[in-house]
Amino acid sequence: MISFENVAYNYGGGELLSDISLRLAPGSFHFLTGPSGAGKTTFLKLCYAELLPTAGRVTLFDREVRGLARDDVAMTRRRIGVVHQDCQFLDHLPLGDNVALPLTVAGRPGAARDLADLLAWVGLERLTDALPPSLSGGERQRAALARAIIMGPDVILADEPTGNLDWEMSLRLLTLLVELNRMGKTVLVATHDLNLIRQAKSQIPARVLRIAKRRIQLAGADL
Ligand SMILES: Nc1ncnc2c1ncn2[C@@H]1O[C@H](COP(=O)(O)OP(=O)(O)O)[C@@H](O)[C@H]1O
Ligand SMILES: [Mg+2]
Repeated sequence: MISFENVAYNYGGGELLSDISLRLAPGSFHFLTGPSGAGKTTFLKLCYAELLPTAGRVTLFDREVRGLARDDVAMTRRRIGVVHQDCQFLDHLPLGDNVALPLTVAGRPGAARDLADLLAWVGLERLTDALPPSLSGGERQRAALARAIIMGPDVILADEPTGNLDWEMSLRLLTLLVELNRMGKTVLVATHDLNLIRQAKSQIPARVLRIAKRRIQLAGADL
């Protein structure tokens, strides 16, 4: 589904990620850990073709990213929902419109029923007409998740989605991600919250990828 072969990346300075080979199988659930600045966000950007590797091959849905034309990149991205680290919204638009924005952009507006169902699923149906600045951190993160999945992606990438949330809200978000995985979605979550990882592992067979010394390794069963 997403595969890396001897991938390296640098922003122009020294190499940030080196010789990364791994495969995210369909339906898998992975966490990505590593200290701040290790390259978690960069790795996610390689996973949705926001960045091209400086060496090696990234393959998304059996197609090498480097060979994709611009339209193909757009089509590929529709199959990948991203919850960004700083989930940004258009502050003057009601929450419902923000969540539906990917549909509008794709020329598929009017799926009002789907939007209502989705907002209910993340527990935000009361807030459809609220403006983003009035939302709490947990509400923003759930809205960002709803927006990421409104196009029905096969893969969900979430970048420190519980970074600013208290434990109860973190658990609530985790529950949604676990449910998506149980529905068959491939999930990758960057986080340094080890408690969250432990909690997830008690519910699903999640694997842990760890960035250390520019490499990404599958962590052992201990974590
Ligand atoms: N656009 C960029 N240009 C140059 N350096 C960058 C850019 N984005 C990130 N970096 C650097 O790459 C390193 C890894 O960043 P990042 O992938 O955001 O790490 P993490 O998400 O693990 O905190 C950091 O040192 C960061 O400063
Ligand atoms: Mg980051």
